[in-house]
Amino acid sequence: MDDSSRHVCIVGIQWGDEGKGKIVDALTTGFDIVVRYQGGANAGHTVKIGEDQFIFHLIPSGILQDGKVCIIGNGVVLDPRALIEELDELRRKGIDHEANLWISERAHVVLPYHRLLDAAREESSPGGKIGTTLRGIGPCYTDKAARLGIRMVDLIEPRAFRVLLSRNLEQKNAELVKLFGKEPLDFDAVHDEYCGYAERLRPRVRDISKLLWEEERAGKRIIFEGAQGTLLDLDLGTYPYVTSSNTSFLGLGAGTGFSPRRVSNVLGVAKAYSTRVGEGPFPTELKDETGEELRRKGAEFGATTGRPRRCGWLDLVALRYAIRYGDVDSLAITKLDVLDGFDRIKVATRYLQGGQQVDEFPTASGEEHRPDYDTLPGWRCDISGSRRFEDLPPEARRYLQFIADRLDTPISMVSVGKEREATISMDPWLRPRGRQGGNRA
Ligand code: IMP
Repeated sequence: MDDSSRHVCIVGIQWGDEGKGKIVDALTTGFDIVVRYQGGANAGHTVKIGEDQFIFHLIPSGILQDGKVCIIGNGVVLDPRALIEELDELRRKGIDHEANLWISERAHVVLPYHRLLDAAREESSPGGKIGTTLRGIGPCYTDKAARLGIRMVDLIEPRAFRVLLSRNLEQKNAELVKLFGKEPLDFDAVHDEYCGYAERLRPRVRDISKLLWEEERAGKRIIFEGAQGTLLDLDLGTYPYVTSSNTSFLGLGAGTGFSPRRVSNVLGVAKAYSTRVGEGPFPTELKDETGEELRRKGAEFGATTGRPRRCGWLDLVALRYAIRYGDVDSLAITKLDVLDGFDRIKVATRYLQGGQQVDEFPTASGEEHRPDYDTLPGWRCDISGSRRFEDLPPEARRYLQFIADRLDTPISMVSVGKEREATISMDPWLRPRGRQGGNRA
């Protein structure tokens, strides 16, 4: 890789759960630093190594590899309790890389009232549920935008924390009690619990933007790890059924203080089919046996909440939209092996609305779009042992070529199983027919 692609950003381009953790883990070897730039403990990045399965909610997936610096950027909303649980769990499994972890002093802290308000708002929302992960994500970002938030720099400074917590808790307790009929939180209990977290995390907190700037100048290579997916982006996703951060590549700059101009390689991760958790539009959703089969074969249950995921065929209209907004250079297609054994595989190439063909992803959440499918032949063999493109059956190769052609975007990686090794690095990239370069070329 030349110097112009020294840094890479890995983003989901569906509704999350695309298998980004595995792709980050596979690529980390060639990089020095792994950075999370948005979201919080709503994410669940799964990495399987041998018999061990690791699920990361806050820590960048790169923590498994010794010597890699892992960074939680200022755009993340950090639940210290969840982070410490994750660090302790890693330690129990014999991985103690805590000294490699750095947390932005500007990251906002998720407090117990954020979690309670998340649940209370979901229960009583006049517009219906969003189906959130109940991790306090929305309320914490709300406080950030309202300039009421408590940041890591405040948490580790006892006097500042006491004042800010007292001010916030008064207001939040009023909301919990008067608006939602809930019990108030006790100041001393919250204060003492969080002071304990502050003690543990204080040595890990620093100015991340400066650190990244210095490391970049020293020639280090950086992976930015997006959480959730572009279609859950607060601004560009299926609003209001979205999360509260900018999940696409566009969130990187604001979420780290690192210039996105220096990141010349955006890898968009998409499953070979589609899933979504929570409410909101999902044009290719299958509420039949085929959907059930995808859920069963793909073990499509939330890594954070255990909820069954809604499943359906691949949606190229949605992907084209996400590729454009995510400025995606190449694709990683994951879980291709889940399609083993299907006689026919459908792919939505456009939508139909009132008899008209529609090529654009809809903005209004209430619009009904019926997918218009192309049908491709399936393959009846097990592809999980494939390690090169040539190892795949002709039908699987044709499926991938169809995706690259219709999205006009090259495919650089394919994953065919849970294990770290079950990955095909495309060399050369599988290009759309008639195209030489990546999206930037
Ligand atoms: P929140 O991020 O908990 O507020 O949830 C908002 C929406 O984003 C809900 O539909 C969640 O199911 C979805 N969501 C949040 N995090 C993830 C994730 O990591 N994977 C998939 N969906 C997610």
